Amino acid sequence: MKIILGSASKELGTRIAQLLCVEPVSVFSKTFPDGESYVRLEGSVEGEEAVIVQTTSPPQDVRLIQLALIADAAKRNGAKKVTAIVPYLAYARQDKIFLQGEAISIEAIARMLKAAGIDSLITVNVHQEKVLEKFPFPARNISAIPLLAEHFKEKGLKEAFALAPDKGAIYIAEQAMKVLGGECGYLEKHRDRYTGQVSVEKGEFNVKGKTVIIFDDIISTGGTIVAAAKILHELGVGKVYAACVHPLLVGDAEKRIREAGVEEIVGTDSVPSLVSKVSLAPLIAKELKEFQSG
Ligand code: R5P
Repeated sequence: MKIILGSASKELGTRIAQLLCVEPVSVFSKTFPDGESYVRLEGSVEGEEAVIVQTTSPPQDVRLIQLALIADAAKRNGAKKVTAIVPYLAYARQDKIFLQGEAISIEAIARMLKAAGIDSLITVNVHQEKVLEKFPFPARNISAIPLLAEHFKEKGLKEAFALAPDKGAIYIAEQAMKVLGGECGYLEKHRDRYTGQVSVEKGEFNVKGKTVIIFDDIISTGGTIVAAAKILHELGVGKVYAACVHPLLVGDAEKRIREAGVEEIVGTDSVPSLVSKVSLAPLIAKELKEFQSG
């Protein structure tokens, strides 16, 4: 096996390669003056299973094209199989038709990746796992929520209340609760499909004076966490923390979240950022090991 270090996930890819004791292959990449992407593999993948590590956080279109070009280069250079590790899978939130005339973006992206030469894919906390069933190649999802919860447990937040910002994410709060050993609950979230504005309503739980950690898959604009923190403070919460797998933190999201009374934001290196305090490397390395032996 060879680990190919996509430019968006060089550090994560290097850590995975070290944990697996396999040779990393660097990628030279550049952007032409007209904005087109260029990639070149700087090592051999001939006869190997090539594993490309490339997240597709913003600028997602550029990173998706780079991933497709790397897959093409790997196949042309004799890789016998190409697996993509895409910790943050862009476009996964447009997984159905919400308004007439839309595309199902994630299905179009999956077909594009298949055409480029990708034979299988591993992602982390994809927005809806069932979208992977529609992929034209085997695609698996792994959860980094236990790792995030472990981080908080080690910080001394054992038995903190794990909160999901919407009902659909209750499984996330349940995974965190298993590690933290406290309680869990969820809020009712509504998003206006035209304006993107988020509103939340409290659920059936008591958080008065308690430490609450809001767990979500993604923090993008921060609107969800800000709305959730506001409700929690109205309910007389003790301290509020926010945890997510993919800290996109668009614009001034981090500042707005802190201003909403959140003590700390913790994310993973799915999207490298100042809040990426938990690495996905051990989780992905373990998955690759099992994948190889299985
Ligand atoms: C959506 O349902 C996701 O699980 C996240 O809650 C959402 O993407 C967060 O976005 P934002 O930070 O913009 O509210």
